Amino acid sequence: MNLALLGPSGVGKGTHAVELATRYQLRHLATGDLLRQNLQARNALGLLARRYMEHGDLVPDEVIDAMIEEWVGRQPASLGSLFDGFPRTADQVRFLDELLQGLGRRLDAVIYLRLDDDAIVERLTGRQICRSCQTPYHHRARPPKLAGWFDHCGGELYRRPDDTEEMTRTRLRVFHRTTEPILSHYADVGKLLIVSGAGSVGDVAQRLDVAVKAIAAGTAQ
Ligand code: AP5
Repeated sequence: MNLALLGPSGVGKGTHAVELATRYQLRHLATGDLLRQNLQARNALGLLARRYMEHGDLVPDEVIDAMIEEWVGRQPASLGSLFDGFPRTADQVRFLDELLQGLGRRLDAVIYLRLDDDAIVERLTGRQICRSCQTPYHHRARPPKLAGWFDHCGGELYRRPDDTEEMTRTRLRVFHRTTEPILSHYADVGKLLIVSGAGSVGDVAQRLDVAVKAIAAGTAQ
């Protein structure tokens, strides 16, 4: 099974993707996390990506496509993939289709996690992330037991520089302008499932589990 989990910034993709990938034995690729790893390593790709990420813009397609190709090539053919935050543009849609086709695979479904913009701003301005394992927390909705530190791996929690209200609204505008049209494309080809991102983390996890079970069983509508 190859799935994509899409949705606006802060809807909860990262919160749910790791658990979904573990439960359904999928390899998880979050393009945002991969870009931030390059940024931390201060390599050429990271330095290039920073210029766009700092402004809430999308990183150019050719950079993302090369990163995806390299990642997919390293994955065992027997395992499916969960693409988190990819594809986000029409070019990335075409690239992924061709890449998977060349490997004799295909994208089975795209899950669109949906939430309104004001709820997104509330979530992102309260987000804290573990520096070691990237798990997202929220200082009200999902507080750590010890302020500033991640419960499980003991990593330090930090705030992403693009999690201000202004930057969040910019990223939302980019999502509405560029990524929403590709969701219509996936609806047209019968691959889109819409799941509400509203409610508690547990509620959303349950809805996602129902959706992925239906995709796996071939009964998703
Ligand atoms: P990326 O890192 O992918 O950021 P994003 O898409 O803006 O998404 P986020 O990671 O911010 O949010 P999320 O949906 O994972 O939410 P989370 O689970 O953390 O991308 C960063 C940048 O990289 C982009 O701006 C772009 O420049 C570049 N980029 C990445 N991919 C690209 C691509 N394909 N093409 C081009 N450029 C690309 O949850 C948010 C908060 O809410 C957390 O605090 C969490 O604890 C809390 N929360 C989650 N669920 C709930 C709930 N149900 N109730 C209450 N709180 C909740």
